[in-house]
Amino acid sequence: MKGENTSSERLKFIKPSAIRRMIDLSAGMRDVIHLEQGEPDFITPPHILEAAKKAMDEGFTHYTHTPGTLELREAVSEKLSRENGIDVDPKTEVIIVSGTQETMAIAALAFLNPGDRALVLEPYYPAYFEDTLIAGAVPIPVPLNREEGYRVDLEELEKRVDSRTKLIWMCSPSNPTGHVFTREDLETIVEVAKKHDLLIFSDEIYEKLIYDDARHISIGSLPGAEDRTITVNGFSKAYAMTGWRIGYVAAKGALAREINKLHYYMVLCPSSISQKAALAALTGPQDCVERMRQEYERRRRAVIKELERIPEVYFVRPKGAFYVFPDFSRFEKDDENFAKELLNKTHVCTAPGSGFGESCKGHLRISYSAPYESVVKGISKIVEFLEKKIN
Ligand SMILES: Cc1ncc(COP(=O)(O)O)c(C=O)c1O
Repeated sequence: MKGENTSSERLKFIKPSAIRRMIDLSAGMRDVIHLEQGEPDFITPPHILEAAKKAMDEGFTHYTHTPGTLELREAVSEKLSRENGIDVDPKTEVIIVSGTQETMAIAALAFLNPGDRALVLEPYYPAYFEDTLIAGAVPIPVPLNREEGYRVDLEELEKRVDSRTKLIWMCSPSNPTGHVFTREDLETIVEVAKKHDLLIFSDEIYEKLIYDDARHISIGSLPGAEDRTITVNGFSKAYAMTGWRIGYVAAKGALAREINKLHYYMVLCPSSISQKAALAALTGPQDCVERMRQEYERRRRAVIKELERIPEVYFVRPKGAFYVFPDFSRFEKDDENFAKELLNKTHVCTAPGSGFGESCKGHLRISYSAPYESVVKGISKIVEFLEKKIN
């Protein structure tokens, strides 16, 4: 049969997603509580839906410019300047993409040569690692200091840089841990990037989902980072728009030009209708974002409260996104087995930690983007299951 032998060399290194594996395993099971996926349960707010309907009714159904409509790029540029302290020219330095995910493959292919190295702050979002491999480059995980809330360690970064290192992948607020980098963390990353002339890929898709005293800072706004940072963001999480496949990237000068070149050959242009929806999202009322954030916060409190009942489970209190990343290794070192056991015995589906880096073995990622009742029921079942193991 054609397939395995016909695939390219580069595909041989690519791992299928551990989350997908869990979803496949749960297919056909009854009454499964899904806490494995980072998918807002909300429907896209009505004024955004209306803008898309209007676009369709008015026949806005054609290709747009490759980097997106100028009106949307202008809205993105204004937002970045107002909220993030990033100044980019909407005509040449903002590109609307078909979901933030697209930019990872593009950045890897545009800026990494075979044999180059890219630092990946670990725990990491898996696409950074796999896209580096797709480009023929070498992903170099850099462990964050878990005991200090996933702080960035200058020494750990420095000792992994060599003459082939080209880029740093980072995400804050983080998937899978929910940590939010402080200004000091970001300054450390910039210091290393400046010293060794590295690019920074900053994924800020969870910027609106922030709790407690945390504050989101865009690394691209820090001195020395402006010209070397590729800032990516999207509408999927803040506006519950995962299915619209729409996001954006901002970068200075030649960086944006190179990204746009590949963007053309990958998608030609993003969906015209989704662009109208995204424009309504950015320029319309923002109270919907805050309402959703407050609901995630309610779920987060419930998850933390339950998990705190089991002192054998270590976790860093998440301050952003909608994930918690507990370490269950006191119960089971093999997280894949543990996730399967949980699924089979409690019908709660979670994401195995090792998919987010070698050092994450024994962890599970639990998402609280599901409805409140499911989250509460799911986490209680996990805690009950652990209590039985203890007694
Ligand atoms: C960190 C991170 N970046 C990007 C994405 C993908 O976003 P988009 O829907 O904009 O492609 C996700 C989705 O879960 C994510 O967690």
